[in-house]
Amino acid sequence: MPQTAAKPKKKTSVSAKPGQKRRPGKGRAGSAKKPPALTARTADRHELYQLSVQNVESEIDFVDAEFERLRGRKAVRLREDFCGTGNTSCEWVRRREGNIAVGLDIDQPTIDWGVAHNLSALSDEQQARVRLLNRNVLQPGDAVGMDCILAMNFSYWLFKTREELKHYFRQVRSSLSKDGVFFLDHYGGSEAMSEMVEKRPIRAPGGRRFTYEWDQASYNPITGDMTCRIHFRFPDKTRMENAFEYHWRLWTLPEIRELLAEAGFSKIHVYWEGDELDEDGEPTGEGNGVFTPTMVGTADPAFISYIAAER
Ligand SMILES: C[S@@+](CC[C@H](N)C(=O)[O-])C[C@H]1O[C@@H](n2cnc3c(N)ncnc32)[C@H](O)[C@@H]1O
Repeated sequence: MPQTAAKPKKKTSVSAKPGQKRRPGKGRAGSAKKPPALTARTADRHELYQLSVQNVESEIDFVDAEFERLRGRKAVRLREDFCGTGNTSCEWVRRREGNIAVGLDIDQPTIDWGVAHNLSALSDEQQARVRLLNRNVLQPGDAVGMDCILAMNFSYWLFKTREELKHYFRQVRSSLSKDGVFFLDHYGGSEAMSEMVEKRPIRAPGGRRFTYEWDQASYNPITGDMTCRIHFRFPDKTRMENAFEYHWRLWTLPEIRELLAEAGFSKIHVYWEGDELDEDGEPTGEGNGVFTPTMVGTADPAFISYIAAER
C-alpha cells in the first residue's frame, strides 16, 4: 500500500499510487545461498508488504532533514502512529545513537511479527530504544512529548468524518513537544478517484520475484469512501488475494490542511514532488523523489505529497 517517501508519482498514467517504491532494489542484503522462489503457500504477507510498499530509509531521510530545517535541531523522540510491524520505528533508532521510537498499533499479531522480524534484527542497544505498543492512536497514554509524530501510508484515512479526523489531529498535537512536528503523507489526483488495478513487478533480495497489485476496488464520489486491497502474484502463477484491505475516506489536501489548522497546528507545509528529467531535460512523467514546500501544485493525474504540521 501507500508509501510516501518512496513512491514516484507518475503524471501520465496510473502507476503512481500507493505502493510505488523509489528504490526497488534497496532492502536487506541477499544471503549467499539462493532462497527458494516465492509462492503463495509459503510467502509471508508482511515481508512482501515491506518489500513492495515501504521505503523507510527515504521516509526517515525526509522527516529527519525537514525537522532539522524547521526547528534548527535534530529530532530525538519519534512516534510512529499506525506502526504495523514498526519498520519505520526501527529505522529511526538505527539512524542515530540516542534516537528513541514508539510505535502504536492495535493489531497484536502484526506487532508480534514486527518484534520477531524487525526488532530482532536490531542490536540490543537499539532494541532498548524502541517500543511497539498495542495502543489506540486516540489514547496514546505515555507516548507523548514527541519531537515527531508520523502518520504515513494514508493510515489516518480510516477516520472518515471531519469530527473524527480533527479529534485525531488534536490528540496528535497534544502528544507533541512544544516545538514538535506532525508528518503525514497524502495521495491524490484524478486517478485516486478511479477503480483500477495497478501491477508492479518486484525483485526482492536473493533474486526472488513477485508482482504487487494495488487494487482500488471501489470509490464512492458522494461520500469519498474507498476500498483498496493489496494482492500478490508469484512466478508459479499462485496468488495471495486480499493480503491487505483498507476502508478509507479519500481526503483532499485542502480538507486536511483546514482540519489541521482547526485542530490548532500553527503552520502547515505541503511538499510537492519534483519532476524526473530525461537526458534532454524534459520531464519523464515520473517524480524525482525530491519534495519541496510550496503552495502551488500541478494537476497531475496521480501525485504523492507530504504534509508537515508544526505544533
Ligand atoms: C496501513 S497499515 C500500517 C501502515 C504503516 N504505517 C506503513 O507505513 O506502512 C494500518 C495500521 O493501522 C492500524 N490501526 C488501525 N486503527 C488504529 C488505531 N485506532 N490505533 C492504532 N493503530 C490502528 C492497523 O492495525 C494497521 O496495522
